Amino acid sequence: MRSKVRILGIAGSLRRGSYNQAALRAAKLLVPENSEIDLFQLDDIPMFNEDDEKRPPSSVVELEKRIRTADAVLFVTPEYNYSIPAVLKNAIDWASRPYGDSAWFGKPAAIMGASLGPIGTTRAQQHLRQILAALNLFLLNKPEVVIADAAHRFNEDGNLIHEPTEQLIQELLKNLVDWTRRISSAPESTSASSTALARHPRSGGVPA
Ligand code: FNR
Repeated sequence: MRSKVRILGIAGSLRRGSYNQAALRAAKLLVPENSEIDLFQLDDIPMFNEDDEKRPPSSVVELEKRIRTADAVLFVTPEYNYSIPAVLKNAIDWASRPYGDSAWFGKPAAIMGASLGPIGTTRAQQHLRQILAALNLFLLNKPEVVIADAAHRFNEDGNLIHEPTEQLIQELLKNLVDWTRRISSAPESTSASSTALARHPRSGGVPA
């Protein structure tokens, strides 16, 4: 793989002043050396329609291209009613199709999230893990970055002002970069990715 690890960052909120977008911007500044985060905004992704999955709109083509050329993905999710927002699930669904040609397949990935509530995005993150497992992304487990009480962890300009959270994001990104390098440099015969890829070539996980 390239010496620089390129991470695609996707936040599941379209809201101006989004804490999750703010957390992603903070992450962009906290990446380790020899890695970078490119941001992708979901504003232009229309609602998924299976009729269009073989000829997706240009915004989806661009999303899929950005996923495929990234070495890893960082998801930053709000929690909506104990789950992930529709806008994020919609983008995940688009890029998982058509069956057998998922852009997500075999990508190393990490999750974090910010919410106003006292237990952060724990429940949404668990749902997201379940979805990403179906698509065979290789998810980092630790640390769990759950940003609770977000209104007090960012200032009015959307800057992260909570040092322990900053350190946790830094640790997550370091682990993601290490994880991505380990997966990419594993010997062909034993690597999790090559074994899985051999068994399910570019599968979306769920048959048509
Ligand atoms: C929420 N919010 C919320 N918070 C939480 O901790 N648990 C939850 O289940 C929910 N559910 C929920 C549903 C809906 C429809 C909305 C609009 C909001 C509050 C949520 O944490 C808050 O709006 C965040 O600010 C959303 O993230 P962004 O947009 O700031 O990134």
